[in-house]
Amino acid sequence: MPSAHAALAPLVSAAIERAFGEERRGADPVLRPSQFADLQSNAALPLAKVLGIPPREVAQRIVEALEVDGVCERVEVSGPGFVNLTLAGAWLGTALDELAADPRRGAPRAEPQRVVIDYSAPNVAKEMHVGHLRTTVVGDALARVLEHLGHTVVRQNHIGDWGTPFGMLIERLLEVGEGSEEALLLETDPNTFYQSARTRFEGDAAFATRSRERVVALQAGDAETLRLWHELVDLSRHYFNAIYSRLGIGLTDDDLAGESTYNDDLERVCDELTEAGIATVSDGALCVFLEGRTGREGRPLPLIIRKSDGGYGYATTDLATVRRRVRDLAADRMLYVIGAPQSLHLQMVWETARLAGWLPDDVEVVHVRIGNVLGPDRKILRTRSGAPLRLMALLDDAVAAARAAIDEDRPGLSEEERAALAPQVGIGAVKYADLSVAHDSEYVFDLERMVALNGNTSRYLQYAVARTRSIFRHAGVTPGAVVVAEPEERALALALLDFGDVVDEVGRTLEPHQLCTYLFDLAQTYSVFYERCPVLKAEPAVTASRLTLTGLTRDVLVRGLDLLGIEAPEVM
Ligand code: ARG
Repeated sequence: MPSAHAALAPLVSAAIERAFGEERRGADPVLRPSQFADLQSNAALPLAKVLGIPPREVAQRIVEALEVDGVCERVEVSGPGFVNLTLAGAWLGTALDELAADPRRGAPRAEPQRVVIDYSAPNVAKEMHVGHLRTTVVGDALARVLEHLGHTVVRQNHIGDWGTPFGMLIERLLEVGEGSEEALLLETDPNTFYQSARTRFEGDAAFATRSRERVVALQAGDAETLRLWHELVDLSRHYFNAIYSRLGIGLTDDDLAGESTYNDDLERVCDELTEAGIATVSDGALCVFLEGRTGREGRPLPLIIRKSDGGYGYATTDLATVRRRVRDLAADRMLYVIGAPQSLHLQMVWETARLAGWLPDDVEVVHVRIGNVLGPDRKILRTRSGAPLRLMALLDDAVAAARAAIDEDRPGLSEEERAALAPQVGIGAVKYADLSVAHDSEYVFDLERMVALNGNTSRYLQYAVARTRSIFRHAGVTPGAVVVAEPEERALALALLDFGDVVDEVGRTLEPHQLCTYLFDLAQTYSVFYERCPVLKAEPAVTASRLTLTGLTRDVLVRGLDLLGIEAPEVM
């Protein structure tokens, strides 16, 4: 059961070739939505220019060459040279019956690839911020979509678990005592712990010296220092996992591959780049200078891979990620779901990796750029006092906002039902806000809008699902063969058939917002259908057909929400 688009595209293409010769083979049928038909082909307009024939005549010749018996019931030239295509009701009915028989509801299976996805990547002993939240939500949705398409997804949570701050953090841990209340703050309010370590570091020279010595001991692999470092990472892991579980994110400890994972690779990375003549020493630091990469005043911009003090940095580690993901994880495709400002960093790392031969041309690497989440003042979202936001508190706020909205709009639900709904609605709203905007665009975080029942919100979609479920609870009839007669039935049928194309598209473009837009349109199309086409109060055969359409709408919405990582409650 292909979509209307997928069914008609090859037929129009073939007609163009028949009408205008073999040199037009594979011509783009330029199919677009149509006001007067199911779809229209605009191919005649560009062709007319090339051929020097009036566009309406080109369109007429395409129509004459079209072989659409059993597929279209009407084909006509309109306007300046559009070809309007209306599918046959019987074709649509059969396609919908097939869709109902397909457990995947039309979602295709792609040529399987191994896709490595780097997402979430918060930092140890620090609060996760809204940027981390967004890469977590977007990365998880992409992982779900790609897995559903049949790809093997390898999740890599590149947590910041290494570097100079760990000297100070370890010293602070010793000072407050392992297992002390202050130490346990790392599991709930890591920033407070981090800040206290900073304050000590800045205010006490002896503490600062101990911290620096501690970094040296850590790098030298001193056993007791490593034990303390593990303790810090463990406490942070509990904090990350608490957030993931609250969000329903599928990241586990097995997916952790933090910066420290690459420690043993860094020297080799530098050696290989030096041996290949790609890296050179400049001002004591080992650098890669890439062609055309210049900074201020046109001076060459280095990618520093070993600092003059011998330390390795963020770039060295990311070079190691490329190397390892290609060699050991056998990636066909690698996604780095990371904040948009890190674009230059990634471009330089990948260019270097290509020069070094670590990144073959047949491995695709993509920066899925994550845009900022803004507060009402259009600056990066913070608390009212300007302090960094505690993510857990933000999620609490979202659930509370959902609860308030439910109390107001759904007073008929029991206390129990409303309490159960609040987290499903609130967390769904946070995720949907991150997903429904193009991932590289910024947006203003506005809880009230996000939990509203009207508008492009997850709550609207959840409500649409609950309504279809309620129809089934009241139906005494079983769903049956689809008969497409009314225009609203036709519109719904066409929308349902598009689901597979949309999932496929998201898998290719890595843009979950396209799925959001589709689901929102589908829910609205269903709503119009429901108003104009009685489901339960119709002839039995019509009821059976409309129930099938209703069931398909439910399934596509539930599956779509699930691919986004959003729950679909029974009752709303
Ligand atoms: N920990 C980093 C941050 O908080 C993000 C890491 C992203 N992943 C990577 N491979 N560089 O900004």
